Amino acid sequence: MKIFLDTANLDEIRQGVEWGIVDGVTTNPTLIAREKADFEERVKEICELVKGPVSAEVVATDAEGMVKEARHLASLSEYVVVKIPMTYEGIKAVKILSAEGIKTNVTLVFSVTQAILAAKAGATYVSPFIGRIDDVSSDGLKLVDEIVQVYNNYAFETEIIAASIRHPMHVVEVAMMGVDIVTMPFAVLKKLFLHPLTDIGIERFLKDWETYRGSRKL
Ligand code: G3P
Repeated sequence: MKIFLDTANLDEIRQGVEWGIVDGVTTNPTLIAREKADFEERVKEICELVKGPVSAEVVATDAEGMVKEARHLASLSEYVVVKIPMTYEGIKAVKILSAEGIKTNVTLVFSVTQAILAAKAGATYVSPFIGRIDDVSSDGLKLVDEIVQVYNNYAFETEIIAASIRHPMHVVEVAMMGVDIVTMPFAVLKKLFLHPLTDIGIERFLKDWETYRGSRKL
């Protein structure tokens, strides 16, 4: 399972990379805007840090405009993956870009039919948004499970990125389904490390070691 960070914040990415468990990064216009940095500069900086797939999203809404933006974004770094929204025009653009060998990530996916079309168009990645489905009282995890099953049925090569992750149990559930990639906020990644029994265990081991050292006069 690959872990991506869903952020455009360099400190968070640097920390994740130092831990050695971050394989890539996903961004979106909201995450970039939050950083108040130059878009292209930030994409290049992220690529240099992570040296793995970095999703950067187009903002054009017509296929021609998306393809033009995508070609430019792809020229910034070999690691750029162009994020394209799931629309009629988006799928048209993905088909053109996949024929050119430009990597794409079809985003804002909320149904199995949308995921099928993304794979048919040759998308490198597809991003179902779990949390946002949960937010409207539906089942985001069920959607991912169904996409995994359908992609397996047809041996589609498009990789599934479980996105809009809100907490560690989302990560556990999609891992049980065998999803290819989970992209998560830094706050969720940090929580994956933690267990109170680990902290209690370390404290007890260190205390017992100090008692032992005292008794041996070390
Ligand atoms: O980057 C796409 C997705 O992960 C966004 O998540 O939390 O804004 O629904 P969220």
